[in-house]
Amino acid sequence: MNIVYLKGQFMASEKATVSPFDRGFLFGDSVYEVVPYFRGIGFRLQEHIARLEHSLRAVRIQADTDWAGLMDELVQRNGGGNMSVYLQVTRGDCGSRSHSYDASLRPTVFACCAPVRNFAAVPAEDVVGISAIVTADLRWHRCDIKSTGLLPNILVLQQARDHRADEALLLRDGVLTEGTSCNLFVVRQGVIYTPKRSSDILGGITRELVLGLADANGMQYQEVDIDYDSLMSADEVWISSSTRGVVPVTRVDHSPIGSGNKGPVWARMFELLARYQQQLMTGE
Ligand code: PDD
Repeated sequence: MNIVYLKGQFMASEKATVSPFDRGFLFGDSVYEVVPYFRGIGFRLQEHIARLEHSLRAVRIQADTDWAGLMDELVQRNGGGNMSVYLQVTRGDCGSRSHSYDASLRPTVFACCAPVRNFAAVPAEDVVGISAIVTADLRWHRCDIKSTGLLPNILVLQQARDHRADEALLLRDGVLTEGTSCNLFVVRQGVIYTPKRSSDILGGITRELVLGLADANGMQYQEVDIDYDSLMSADEVWISSSTRGVVPVTRVDHSPIGSGNKGPVWARMFELLARYQQQLMTGE
């Protein structure tokens, strides 16, 4: 049975309903998080909660909930194991359609979870490189807020699918920002480059972890502007996210990146991330 959490209660997913006047439904007036659980334990849970609180503060939604307790219980009620938790907080049900809102609205909290593959359990040899297209970043200028207003992301991902590609990398004012639901890294002569943290990208939890692991293991990295030519002439390109870990991008706009194969710097980072995750989850 699929158990979800809605408005203070755990229930079977078929029982969960929200009002059509909920501002999340009407306006996308809501924020969200996606948190991976491995072996029933939240991975970088406090970092995800801190980012959720940043998003809530930024859009002025006040929701006071034991986020960790809620997500832990949801995963347990769904049998534990490897899960990705989706947590959404809307500004609430306003009873009629009005752009303006009453600050006293009660936020709607919804959470569900779905099985996820443990990226750390897959040998590096078995990871398959993905393909991407580069397209215009149509999003607003507060991409640091994890808003559910994902129409631009959805449209460009579909554009990628129309080109038989797996992901779309986004270009704004001549520089790459990130993917539709992932951060971006390129490697040139052994150095890792990633776009600077700004309100044009989401501060990815995996991105921070990758940079921390690079630092701790003597791998050089720089946060810089990356233009189209530097992307296309890179030795390696990767993307990162909580559910996918680090994934090599071996073709962009139908051209191979570097050798067209997974690169050695990616392989090192993949191993470091897998080991870190394994140690944290098992204490080994
Ligand atoms: N997406 N950039 C964007 C636009 C994202 O939506 C995500 C995550 C990331 C990576 O962040 P993190 O490492 O914290 O997962 C970057 C989630 C997985 C999603 O929307 O499903």
